[in-house]
Amino acid sequence: MRVLVTGAGGMLGQDVVGAARGGGHEVTALTRSDLDVTNGAAAARTIRDVCPEVVVNCAAWTDVDGAEAQEEEATKVNGEGAGNVARATAEAGAVLVHVSSDYVFDGNGRAPYVESDPVKPLSAYGRSKLAGEREVADAGSRHVIVRSSWLFGLGGGNFVETMLRRGAEQDELRVVNDQIGCPTFTVHLAGALLDLAGGQALGIHHVAGAGACSWHAFAVEIFRQAGMEVRVDPMATAQLERPAPRPAYSVLATARDDGVALPEWREGLADYLSERGSASDAGTGR
Ligand SMILES: NC(=O)c1ccc[n+]([C@@H]2O[C@H](COP(=O)([O-])OP(=O)(O)OC[C@H]3O[C@@H](n4cnc5c(N)ncnc54)[C@H](OP(=O)(O)O)[C@@H]3O)[C@@H](O)[C@H]2O)c1
Repeated sequence: MRVLVTGAGGMLGQDVVGAARGGGHEVTALTRSDLDVTNGAAAARTIRDVCPEVVVNCAAWTDVDGAEAQEEEATKVNGEGAGNVARATAEAGAVLVHVSSDYVFDGNGRAPYVESDPVKPLSAYGRSKLAGEREVADAGSRHVIVRSSWLFGLGGGNFVETMLRRGAEQDELRVVNDQIGCPTFTVHLAGALLDLAGGQALGIHHVAGAGACSWHAFAVEIFRQAGMEVRVDPMATAQLERPAPRPAYSVLATARDDGVALPEWREGLADYLSERGSASDAGTGR
């Protein structure tokens, strides 16, 4: 397939580009400096010129706390930007794979969220991601909207790296235990995005690491797998006083017969740590 990736310099974008190249696809990888998705004319021109069969939109404003004070700017990227990419994709007759988030849910549920569950974002970031889903759905492109959660990958700062760094500095940490979600390795997600791009299963999909845990349980498992002796004490989210509210429970599941399952989150972590070890052995920093 001819695959165009926006936001190709980001954590997920880098792994989508890697997976697409590894799969033998012809890839056009566009970082933000190659294509700013908020520029509708540039999106239309670039996508028309490349004439892809598939566009994977990994471009996003991902500063969840920053979005609270800059909702308009976040929505320009996550809402209008997604719409620009979707309309240009429709004009090119390509399939759009657009990445969305578990933060479109309020997290008041206690059973895993499936695709048809009502959305109700708590934060500006969540509202901007929901705006993007709606722009994509209205643009007339053949599209797949993939909601995922708690991403970690070698191409960006993430919770695993934060824990490993803090655990190397301190032998006792406090981590929140009242947010439950699905940690997802970006390499696993990237493969699923490409599988969906090549298939006929259009519409919304929930794709995240199987199983669920709290950030606290995730941290404990990170130190266990890394062979580090660090005591992790539980704490409440309220004690962190962060600007953006987070859903307390945002476990994703699929109710689709043609849905995609990813490996369990602990397996995702093991694969991440193994790839991280190989990258540092090779001195690539990736
Ligand atoms: N990280 C998570 O835990 C998580 C969870 C669920 C869903 N998601 C979704 O997964 C997707 C990928 O996220 P990620 O974690 O890979 O984030 P990321 O590392 O921040 O990547 C996003 C990329 O988009 C680029 N970008 C920002 N504004 C842009 C614009 N106007 N035009 C073009 N590119 C722009 C960024 O460039 P700069 O770095 O130069 O700004 C960055 O390279 C996003 O849709 C995100 O909402 C993420």
